[in-house]
Amino acid sequence: MAITQPAMREAARQPEMRPANPRFSSGPCAKPPAFDLSKLADAPLGRSHRAAIGKAKLKAAIEETRDILGIPADYKIGIVPASDTGAFEMAMWNLLGERPVEMLAWESFGAGWVTNVVKQLKLDAAVKTADYGEIVDLAGVDFDRDVCFTWNGTTSGVRVPNGDVIPANRAGLTLCDATSAAFAMDLPWDKLDVTTFSWQKVLGGEAAHGMLILSPRAVARLESYTPAWPLPKIFRLTKGGKLIDGIFTGATINTPSMLCVEDYLLALDWARSVGGLDGMIARADANTAAVTDFVAAHDWIEFLAVDPATRSNTSVCLKFADARIVDGAAFAKAVAKRLEQEEIALDIGAYRDAPAGLRIWCGSTVETSDIAAMLPWLAWAFEAEIEALSEAA
Ligand SMILES: Cc1ncc(COP(=O)(O)O)c(C=O)c1O
Repeated sequence: MAITQPAMREAARQPEMRPANPRFSSGPCAKPPAFDLSKLADAPLGRSHRAAIGKAKLKAAIEETRDILGIPADYKIGIVPASDTGAFEMAMWNLLGERPVEMLAWESFGAGWVTNVVKQLKLDAAVKTADYGEIVDLAGVDFDRDVCFTWNGTTSGVRVPNGDVIPANRAGLTLCDATSAAFAMDLPWDKLDVTTFSWQKVLGGEAAHGMLILSPRAVARLESYTPAWPLPKIFRLTKGGKLIDGIFTGATINTPSMLCVEDYLLALDWARSVGGLDGMIARADANTAAVTDFVAAHDWIEFLAVDPATRSNTSVCLKFADARIVDGAAFAKAVAKRLEQEEIALDIGAYRDAPAGLRIWCGSTVETSDIAAMLPWLAWAFEAEIEALSEAA
C-alpha cells in the first residue's frame, strides 16, 4: 500500500515532543506514575512475614484487592508463589481431572496451558485454538466441562469481550488466566471460578507473587476431589480434605518478599487515587483510543486483533501492512530498535512466538500523554526504515 505524501512529510524529521516515560513493556509493565523507591520505606524488611506486621500487610493486600476489583465476599483470595504462572498451574494441578476438560487458546500463554494439560497432566482434553488475532467461538464451548482460558491474550492483543456466554448454572469450573486483564477490564466474578493474575502487569508491581481467586464452587471442588497425581508442597491448597484457610488470609505457603508486598500495596493505593477499577479501565481505554486514532490515520499499520470487539485495551498488538516490506520480522525489529535507541519506546517488539509486529502496553500505569508523544515517533521510525529499505535495494 502506498503511503500518502502528507504522512511522509510528517515523518521526515524527528518529532519534537518526547514521552516523559518510554516504558511501554507488556510485563513487567511501567510502575505507577507516582512511584518512587523511597515510598517502599515502610516495608517490614528483616522481619518475619509471620510477625503481626507482615501478616497485616499480606491481609491488607488481599482485602484491598477484593475491594478495588469488587470480588465477592465469599470468594477466597490467596497470594501464592511464582507469579501468574504459579497461580494458574496450582489451580490446574489441584482442580482438573474430576471431569472432562476444554482448553481454549488464542496465543502463546494459553497454548502453554494446553501443553500442561495434554502433555504433563495427560488429560484427554478438547482443545480449541484460534490463530493470533482471533478468538475461539465461545458459544460452542461446553461449560459443563472444566474450561481453561486466558481473558486477555497478552501476546496477541485479543480479549474475551464479556462473560455473557458462560452460563450461570454451569456444571464445570471456569479457570481464567487474567494476568493482563485484572485492573483493566471488567471481570464477571460470578462467571469465573478460578482467576489468576500477577502484580507485574496492569498495576506495574513486581513479579514474584501470583494472585489466586477462588469461587465457592472452586473451593467445594478442592474439598471434595483429590487429583490422581502428586502435588508438591508449593502447590498444596488443602490439608486433610479441607482448604488451608491461612493461605487466603495472608499466611502464605512459603516466604513472600515483603518488599514486593509493600510495592503492591503502593500500587493499590495509586489505583484507588485514580478512581479504582473504573478509573483504571478509563485510563487504559484512553491509551488504546490514542493508538486506535493513530492506526486509523495511517494505512501502513493495523491491529493484529481482527474484531474490534475483542481488541485488548492493555497489550495492544500491531502489524505493519505495507507492500514495500519484504521481511516483516526484520522490519518490525528494526523499527522497535530505532525507537529503543532514541529512548522513545522500550520493549515494544512483538512477543517472540507471536506474528511480527509491535506490542504497545496501554494499561493504566502508562500516561496517555506518553502514548500521544510516542506515536509520531513510530511514524518517523517507520519512514526511516522504509527509506533504509529503498537505499539498500
Ligand atoms: C496471559 C499470561 N499468562 C501468564 C503469564 C506469565 O506471567 P508470569 O511471568 O507473571 O508468571 C503472562 C505473562 O506475560 C501472561 O501474559
